[in-house]
Amino acid sequence: MDVEKFIEPSSTYHMLGSDDPYSYAQNSEYQKQLVVSAEELIFELIDKHLDIEKPSFDPNKIFRIGDFGCSIGPNTFFAVENIIKSVENKYKYKSNIKNPRIPEYHVFFNDHVDNDFNALFRNIPITRKYFPAGVPGSFHGRLFPNATLHFVHCSTALHWLSRIPKEVTETNSSAFNKGRIHYTGAKKEVKEVYSTQYRKDIKSFLSARAQELVPGGLMVLVILGFPGGVLPSESSIGIGFNILGSCLEDMVQMGKITEEEVDSFNLPFYYPSPSELKALIEENGCFNIERIERLSEPMKNEKQNLNILIKVCVSHLRAVIGGLIEEHFGNEIVEELFQLHMKKLHENPMMFDEKYRKEANYFMFLKQKSHL
Ligand SMILES: C[S@@+](CC[C@H](N)C(=O)[O-])C[C@H]1O[C@@H](n2cnc3c(N)ncnc32)[C@H](O)[C@@H]1O
Repeated sequence: MDVEKFIEPSSTYHMLGSDDPYSYAQNSEYQKQLVVSAEELIFELIDKHLDIEKPSFDPNKIFRIGDFGCSIGPNTFFAVENIIKSVENKYKYKSNIKNPRIPEYHVFFNDHVDNDFNALFRNIPITRKYFPAGVPGSFHGRLFPNATLHFVHCSTALHWLSRIPKEVTETNSSAFNKGRIHYTGAKKEVKEVYSTQYRKDIKSFLSARAQELVPGGLMVLVILGFPGGVLPSESSIGIGFNILGSCLEDMVQMGKITEEEVDSFNLPFYYPSPSELKALIEENGCFNIERIERLSEPMKNEKQNLNILIKVCVSHLRAVIGGLIEEHFGNEIVEELFQLHMKKLHENPMMFDEKYRKEANYFMFLKQKSHL
């Protein structure tokens, strides 16, 4: 057995769990809307591409679904429910047999070991039609035996890198990212090392999933990225990160944290363009890409007042990166940092302007090539 493939990457990031007001469960409406807008596509494409006549999809066997990067719910439950509804539709109504059998479902919820799995399991709907299980560990490595999964789902999680490229924190490197916390607006070398790390991570993810899926197994990815040619620094996300970076700089001036601490802090996110990701999938060679579609922008039609938008945005960011900030700078600065961030967004609300909403979410439907 290849032991290396089971080794965890060095960093394990996780969302705030439990019932904290800044928990992911209470601050993930944006991601929920993406799950909802992918529902019809999943239904249509399962109907079209699930090979229920093939031996690996025999309804007398168990149908196994994995949600990778599930967090603590509730979005993962909506996604799984929709996948099961779509699979059931296919077995019930598209089989050549009279009174066809419907398989039983085993659902695996994956996230980092530090994810609050207790909160996840406390919240699983009692009306579920599946047997749930937790699978802790990084999705950049193997998590399941060969050919055991029938369906893989991964929504708004693949932009998390397995580690920060070390060059961005090395003072003698051309990619040293002094005074910044992300590659948005940074020199090109910084973006390049982030992109190299992303390529490595996606390759590991794809090759692990290709082995874990049964022949003809299906995979849905929902990816946050940028259309080709868009500069991240001219997008809401990039502007928001730069403002957060400037808050950390202010806290250095106030003597609350050190310059070195800021220089050694970088956010582990990379946002690909669809063609970049498509090229990586093609290079991997284990999947047919059955559909790529840009999803409608979450919360676009919600005409909320600016105060609410800012509050939602800061709470959301805190739910996602609060743990990273705490781990790096200590718990004492978290409240003050996000208060300062809120104040600065009030002073400079440009990221909420429609014209900067340049990030996009892409839906990808892949089918494992059966010859593997
Ligand atoms: C923004 S949340 C998305 C949660 C859920 N999929 C949804 O749609 O609401 C991203 C999740 O991915 C998880 N994650 C990031 N990198 C991961 C990795 N390498 N392995 C497993 N989970 C990971 C994070 O811990 C987090 O819970």
